[in-house]
Parts: sequence; structure tokens; C-alpha cells
Amino acid sequence: MADTVEPATLTQPDRMIAEAHELRRALGPVNLILIGIGSIIGAGIFVYTGTAAAQHAGPAVVLSFVIAGFGCLFAGLCYAEFASMIPESGSAYTYAYATMGRFMAWFIGWNMVLEYLVSAAGVSAGWSGYFGSLLADFHIYLPKALMMAPVAGTGFRDIHLTGAIINVPAVALIAILTTFLVIGVRESARFNGLMVLLKVAIVIAVIAFGLSFVHISNLTPFIPPNPATAGKTGLDALSADFGNFGKYGITGILAAAPIAFFAYIGFEAVSVAAQEARNPRRDLPIGILGSLGICTLLYILMAIVLTGITDWRTLDVTSPVSFAVSKIEGLKWLVIPIDIGAVVGLASVVFVSLYGQSRVFYSMARDGFLWPAFAEVHKRFKTPHRGTIIIGVLAAVLAALFPFDVLADLVSIGTLAAFISVCIGIMILRVTTPKARRQFRTPYVWFTAPAGVFVCGVMMASLSDATWVRLVIWTMIGLAIYFGYGIRHAAPSKWKVANEG
Ligand code: ALA
Repeated sequence: MADTVEPATLTQPDRMIAEAHELRRALGPVNLILIGIGSIIGAGIFVYTGTAAAQHAGPAVVLSFVIAGFGCLFAGLCYAEFASMIPESGSAYTYAYATMGRFMAWFIGWNMVLEYLVSAAGVSAGWSGYFGSLLADFHIYLPKALMMAPVAGTGFRDIHLTGAIINVPAVALIAILTTFLVIGVRESARFNGLMVLLKVAIVIAVIAFGLSFVHISNLTPFIPPNPATAGKTGLDALSADFGNFGKYGITGILAAAPIAFFAYIGFEAVSVAAQEARNPRRDLPIGILGSLGICTLLYILMAIVLTGITDWRTLDVTSPVSFAVSKIEGLKWLVIPIDIGAVVGLASVVFVSLYGQSRVFYSMARDGFLWPAFAEVHKRFKTPHRGTIIIGVLAAVLAALFPFDVLADLVSIGTLAAFISVCIGIMILRVTTPKARRQFRTPYVWFTAPAGVFVCGVMMASLSDATWVRLVIWTMIGLAIYFGYGIRHAAPSKWKVANEG
């Protein structure tokens, strides 16, 4: 019987992982769900939900979470099929290389830098807000000029200097985590499990204790009207809403959807564990859909509680969850646990992002797209140390200078592009290699994959012009590296998907 994937030579970090897990196929459905939740819950829910509600959607941010959840569900099902066919780290980059050729592989790999490296920088910037809040709980106050980015504003017109120097805590966090990664300290499954439980416990506590303080008056009107629609009805109102895009109303829900999407990013990390799953055919979909389902439920309830216990207009702060809770006399005791949970939980997302980036760059350098330094493995530590340090320095510079929301939007647009490519890639494979062995098949693929492209496309389109311009600039830099270096050095993909004979 012909195998679907060849050849299966182990790379150095793959070997390290294999050695680290005596039982290579040791992960069951619960572990996989925990891996997913551990990568998902972070700055999105703890920081960005406040901005999404205050600036765009009001209480209807709940609907933005539903839209983003569907986009992730469709793309997640396609990820699951790929992961069961190409059990290799590198995720969407590797899938693109096996199905769409060298250029698309480079394009997706370059976008995944946004998904991991820029995400690490962004979540660190978000972490800094909760770190400041935690210090304040103990009456320690660092100078504001050292706690935030010198630049602010997501659009073209609102870009301004804040007077701050650099975001020192964000840089320090990245420096510490990069050091751990270089010397090879990896999250053990148990440590990851503990952090996930802590994060989930905090979110459940906020929901459980907060629900009884929800006032319907805070939630009405559920969809605050776009000011441009005042006095208009029907199609007139709709066109005025689109004319003033993202300022509440229907378009406010759309504008908040990519923000909610940011909160979901991370479930695809489950697909990276394909090689270690005990029963990938059954457990990967459970891991992806289970972590997504649990987070969707938690996020929707959290959004209702956050916008229901306080005036959503006040939530545009750096630590909105503890801020909202601190306003309620009966909930003040939750502030310190929330700050601790967020500080620990967000740090774990940064760690996984830096780790993921070093793996993606490692795969890309090994394929010849990037300089060999990124694939060089330290003799003693057995880690791709140079690549990890370069990534750490780049992430630290971004986190020092730019605010969370600018970085987060860039992460969302890059990840959405990667998700769309995965949905397209799965359709290409169904046509080119219909008889390849698929341990997991995306259900109703001719609906699911196009729906994933559509929902993710709508979210991309809802991001600001400035974010698109940043994506274009990013792509230009990528093209310069590709045509200046990668095109001459890249080897053919090692992964070929074939029909079964
Ligand atoms: N989903 C991750 C977070 O919210 C990126 O931090």
C-alpha cells in the first residue's frame, strides 16, 4: 500500500521532541484540548474584548465572537484534515508547500511570522498592562513612560506619540522567555495543564460570580446604533452604517469580529501535535473542535458579563477584566486573582508563540527559504539557538515600540490569510489527490472550505486600511527576501501527497 506522505525523515527538533516524549503517540483527546485552550486564552479575551466593545460593537461584541467562532470552526476542520495527512511541524507553511508550491509556501510562511512572532510581541504588550495592574494591587507603581509604547493609534489619522519611552516589562518578558527557549526549558505537559486550569478557573470565576451583577440596562441597546444612521431607516440606514464603518451598528459587529478572532488564535496549535496524538483520526478533531467549542462558550459568556456588569464605554483600558470587576463592590476580591491569572496565562501564550516561530523559521531555513543560521542547532542545548535569539530580539523591538492593538490587528490579518490558504489548499487536494489516505475528512468540504474562505475573508476586509497597508509593506519585505535569497536556495518540498495505488 502506498503511503500518502513521504519521506518521513526526522529533523533535529523533531527528534528532540520525540526523545522528550518516550511514548511518541502519548497525547489523548484531553491533552489535545488542553494544548488548544492553553494557546487560545490570552490577551484577546483579557485585553482586546474591552477595546472591541468600547470602540466598535458595545454589548453586540458577543455576536462578533459568534462570527469569529464560525470562521475558526470552518478553518479548524480543514486544519484537522491537513494535520492527519501531513504529520509535520511547520503547520500551514508545510501544508502550502506540499500542495501549492514554493511561492505560496513562502507567502504563507511569511504570514505565519505575523501569527507567531508579532503575536508574541503583541501579547507581551498586552501582558504589560496586567503586570502594571498586578503591581498596583500591591501599591507598586512604575513610571508610565516605561510601561507603554511610544507610539499609539491603529489608523492613519490617529497615529501619535504617547510621550512614553519604551514598554520595559514587555521587553523583559520576551528576554526571559527567549532565554528559557535557548537553554531548552520546555513547557512540560503538566505545567501547561496547570496554567490552562488557572486561566480557565479565572475565566469561569469571572463568569460565575459576575453573572448575578449583570444589569440589563448595561446591555441595552444590545447593538448600539451607528451615529451616522440617526434618523434613517432601511437601506438608507445600512448604507450610512457602511459609510461610517465600525462605529457601532452592524458594521461595528463586523469591525469587532477580527478582534474577537485574535482571541481564538491558537487552536491550530493542536494540529502541530499531530505526530504525537494517540489516535489522530479521532482525537485531532476532538482537540481542535473541543478547545474551540469550550473557548467559544467561555468567550461569549465572558463578553456578556464584561459588558453587563459595567458601562461598555469605559472598557477601553489596558486591563479591562480586572477594571470592570473592580467597579463592583461584591467582586473586588477577584481583582488580584484575575491579575495573577492574566499575568501567568498571557506569558504562557507568549512562550508558545516564540516557540512556534522558532519551529516555523527552522522549517523554512531547512527548506532553504531563509539563511542557515535559523536552522542551526546548538550542540549542548539542542535548540535552534540563533534563530530563537533573532526572533526574541525582533519581538522585543516590536513590543518595546508598538501598542498591543496595532500588533494584534497585524496578527489577525496574517493569520486570516494563513487560514484562507489552508481552506483553499484542502479543496485543491480533494481535486488533485482524491484517493490519498485521509485519516480525518473535513465534513461537507465543498461547503465548509468555501465558508471558511468567506468568513475569514469578511473579517480580513473588516480590518482597517492602515492594517492592510502594513500587510502590504510586510509582504514587500517578504518578497524582497524571497527574490533576493529564497528563490535561489529553496529545495523542493519534502512532503508529497499521493493517491493510494
Ligand atoms: N488567542 C491568543 C490571545 O488571545 C493569541 O492572546
